[in-house]
Amino acid sequence: MATAEVRVSPGEQAAARQLERIPEPTIVVIFGASGDLTKKKLLPALFHLEQAGLLPEQFAVVGVARRPLQEEFPRDMRAGILQYGGVEAGHARLDDFISRIRYHAMNFDDPGGFGRLKDLLASIERELGGQGNRLYYLATAPEHFADIIHHLGEQGMARPERGKVRVIIEKPFGHDLASARLLNDDVNSVFDESQIFRIDHYLGKETVQNILVFRFANGIFEPVWNRNFIDHVQITAAEDIGIEGRGPFYEKAGAMRDVVQNHMMELLSFVAMEPPVSFEADAMRSEKVKVWRSIPPIHPMDAMRGQYGPGQVNGFPVKGYREEDRVDPQSGTETFAALKLGIENWRWAGVPFYLRAGKRLSKRVTEIRIQFKQPPQLLFNTSSGSCKDLQPNLITMRIQPDEGISLRFGAKVPSPNMEVCPVVMDFNYANAFGKSSANGYERLLLDAMLGDATLFAHRDGVEATWSLLTPILDSWAAARPKDFPNYASGAWGPKSADALLERDGRAWSQS
Ligand code: BG6
Repeated sequence: MATAEVRVSPGEQAAARQLERIPEPTIVVIFGASGDLTKKKLLPALFHLEQAGLLPEQFAVVGVARRPLQEEFPRDMRAGILQYGGVEAGHARLDDFISRIRYHAMNFDDPGGFGRLKDLLASIERELGGQGNRLYYLATAPEHFADIIHHLGEQGMARPERGKVRVIIEKPFGHDLASARLLNDDVNSVFDESQIFRIDHYLGKETVQNILVFRFANGIFEPVWNRNFIDHVQITAAEDIGIEGRGPFYEKAGAMRDVVQNHMMELLSFVAMEPPVSFEADAMRSEKVKVWRSIPPIHPMDAMRGQYGPGQVNGFPVKGYREEDRVDPQSGTETFAALKLGIENWRWAGVPFYLRAGKRLSKRVTEIRIQFKQPPQLLFNTSSGSCKDLQPNLITMRIQPDEGISLRFGAKVPSPNMEVCPVVMDFNYANAFGKSSANGYERLLLDAMLGDATLFAHRDGVEATWSLLTPILDSWAAARPKDFPNYASGAWGPKSADALLERDGRAWSQS
């Protein structure tokens, strides 16, 4: 009897593989482990995975940094998991998890230190009975990345005889196009591209992944997701916090390098990309890169920068950027950036995208607003009544806080007149699914241990975003801003950012 051939599409295969979500035995090695990221994000995220039963039994974490912290490190990590991970002190699995944390002190340019680290990993492995799998996490200051990569290669730790070795590299990946290329060359000379995971924690956020689900798992939005129906798009990443003691880092970075080149560009690509053929790394990355490559050079008049001065945030007085610890009192670093750009392809030609990101703004909100065109004919008289302007449809994707999605539309006000007012249909994550303490790193750490690079940046993507932004950064570096500080803490940024939209007869949302 002939058996029917079962055909499985690439998408179904990928979905099936994704169900096998427990990684093989792994040692996670975090370089730069004494920094805030490890304590506030990485260890809480790893413990969340442990709580969810998603870590292998043979699992260990080795923190690596310069200072001798052997005693303090596990204690500090426990404190971090409790404080930032929303975990209760007596949690049944916590003691066992902490007992799997080790620490190794060394300088990142010392070959001997790497040799000793290699021995330590081998001895942990003998104890655990692992298989040689390693996940290196580069969470140091970016200037150490090249040294660490070089020494891992020299010591034979990048491509061992057995087991899988992968490396996660924190952002910012490079400082501009030339340095990103150089770093890519360095990393690619030691690791194969399939071993490299360039992380952007925004891609680990549920609400960011949900942009794709909203667009591609529903039939009703995609037909109107284009230039025929959409007037413009606004992407805002506003923070009320300042630089939180990170003066030396932020002085070199600024808003453009810290969040626009990575988080904002990723959000933009998710909103604008074509449906990929599957939810797999190569398919996703090639659609994202097409978006960035379709953006024409940004005109200097379409890029605005700002720096916060003293002011009030959430009712409390705060100092200006130039008064922050370890910041140049004459600093020209931007703490705010706004851009207008276009995407010249069939879907988006003529639709402006406005992006803004800044620190010490009025409140913390990351959101994407898809503003639709006005209906072609206004049937109803809106010149009287309480709602004078007929507002066009608007989809707001709230990435954080108050995660959710809302749709604004016009509705008839109950009255003898044809009065129309905007109303909002709202989906709220917490109401629908309950509150989550996940911070985005859970998903990405798990994916990296599983070797799934779908939610990580690729070499081409990183270079595409840098090539878009480097000319603006160069022109900013060449002309010191004369008006800094140009917005008070607690405001919505400088006036020039408002002008970017006002010129086009539009305005930023003040949500
Ligand atoms: C980081 C930046 O990548 O993202 C920080 O370095 C910024 O400056 C942070 O505050 C914002 O992340 P989140 O998850 O709080 O939006």
